Amino acid sequence: MAVQMMGKLSWDERFSVGVQKYDDQHKVLFGYLGELYDAMRDKKEEEVVGEVLGKLLNYTLTHFFDEEIELYKTNYPGYTRHKEAHDILVAAVREYFIRFRSGKEPGRKMLIEIIAVVTDWLNEHIGVVDKSYSAWLNSKGVK
Ligand SMILES: [Fe+2]
Ligand SMILES: [Fe+2]
Repeated sequence: MAVQMMGKLSWDERFSVGVQKYDDQHKVLFGYLGELYDAMRDKKEEEVVGEVLGKLLNYTLTHFFDEEIELYKTNYPGYTRHKEAHDILVAAVREYFIRFRSGKEPGRKMLIEIIAVVTDWLNEHIGVVDKSYSAWLNSKGVK
């Protein structure tokens, strides 16, 4: 589906991972996706995308560390796989950040690609991969 046709993806209960702190952090990530979406709609890509991507990258690192430390601490059986999924996502955002900031490609084309990747990531990683740690963390008293 063309990105222009998609509605803005926002956080709702189906994305809840059963841990308040992570739900709150995930909402911040959805907020950055919203900012990217607004930049596309308002044709402001050159002004805002570099800044939003920087914030997204920093916040993603902080959030991923938080999850990884908790999963490691509680001996989560899926820790290694979860961390690998994070590493792939961080590498992708870093790559987009470099490509966007280099100015070698049209900002709008980059932005459309970035929105598609971040939308997939939030849907798949939070909606599926993160949700699979809910029962484990809850059973360890992390809620
Ligand atoms: Fe997460
Ligand atoms: Fe995660």
